[in-house]
Amino acid sequence: MPRVAVIGSTGQLGFDLVRVLREPSLPLSPTRKGEPAGFEAIPLSHRDIEITDPGSVHTVLMAIRPEIIINCAAFVRVDECEDHPEEALRVNALGALHVARACAEVDALCVFISTDYVFDGGKTEPYTEEDPPRPLNVYGISKLCGEYFVRASCPRHLIVRTSGLYGVAGSRGKGGNFVETMIHMAREGKPIRVVDDQVLAPTYTKDLAEKIKELLQGQVSGVIHLASSGQCSWYEFARRIFELMGIQADLNPVTSRVYGTRAQRPAYSVLRSTRLEKLGLMSLRPWYEALEAYLSEKGYLPLEEKN
Ligand SMILES: NC(=O)c1ccc[n+]([C@@H]2O[C@H](COP(=O)([O-])OP(=O)(O)OC[C@H]3O[C@@H](n4cnc5c(N)ncnc54)[C@H](OP(=O)(O)O)[C@@H]3O)[C@@H](O)[C@H]2O)c1
Repeated sequence: MPRVAVIGSTGQLGFDLVRVLREPSLPLSPTRKGEPAGFEAIPLSHRDIEITDPGSVHTVLMAIRPEIIINCAAFVRVDECEDHPEEALRVNALGALHVARACAEVDALCVFISTDYVFDGGKTEPYTEEDPPRPLNVYGISKLCGEYFVRASCPRHLIVRTSGLYGVAGSRGKGGNFVETMIHMAREGKPIRVVDDQVLAPTYTKDLAEKIKELLQGQVSGVIHLASSGQCSWYEFARRIFELMGIQADLNPVTSRVYGTRAQRPAYSVLRSTRLEKLGLMSLRPWYEALEAYLSEKGYLPLEEKN
């Protein structure tokens, strides 16, 4: 059974990756019987490994010598990255480099999780893997730099670009996630302003983890886009949360300019995967179905509405 080290295992994606990788799975198809039915997931929290410290990365990964290393660790607070560019680059770029070098040393596949924020949002149709990146903010630049370090330092790599993550563990870096923030604010009866001019595909980390597992089973490498199908603005996403939960929230759309954040964000960052299509693999389910599944898993939806 291939061993997979998951760095950032207490984060929302890391948490779901560990539990999904540990689930026994059937071979992909009868013709691919020889492929692994499951993985041995080795969780690595921030207490176990410090990716900005090459010594820590080397010591920990040399001791484990896994076949696959997934780096989910990141400095994810996009606005804070603007004020702390050195820290953003230290974690998201140099941290990625240290991990990639260790991967190369133990001949492991290096999986790096990247972002839709590597794009400038100037397009009006989904970004494919062939589109040239042009990040607008420090976070996006630091993640793109991480991508380049991984590509240059580890011949066997898989770079997964995704968007708008939410999962049951909640973002460690952001202290919760968008869905939980919306529910919390609505329950407090607060007026809620959400931007209506940033369009993306919010993605449930469990769906993403399952697709990453499928790619690992298929030994896929290179750059790939993985996000929910469909698209919505953050405002539409919030509206759907309240519709599903039956909450009467004081929800109001606002423009990014009026909302005003430190970091500029792409107006349109929907990801499409021509690679998944070429590989004959299914896309992730639509964002609104994934949202319902998340709310069910969290126990927010009445039992009869559960999938
Ligand atoms: N969140 C999004 O909307 C989003 C969108 C697109 C792409 N992504 C990417 O997806 C990946 C996973 O994001 P996420 O939302 O799951 O993040 P998260 O919940 O904030 O988790 C990040 C994890 O990394 C750990 N970590 C942070 N700095 C570290 C360091 N220097 N050394 C070792 N571990 C460290 C954190 O531990 P502590 O909390 O204990 O420090 C935490 O376990 C990231 O690469 C992110 O850039 C996220």
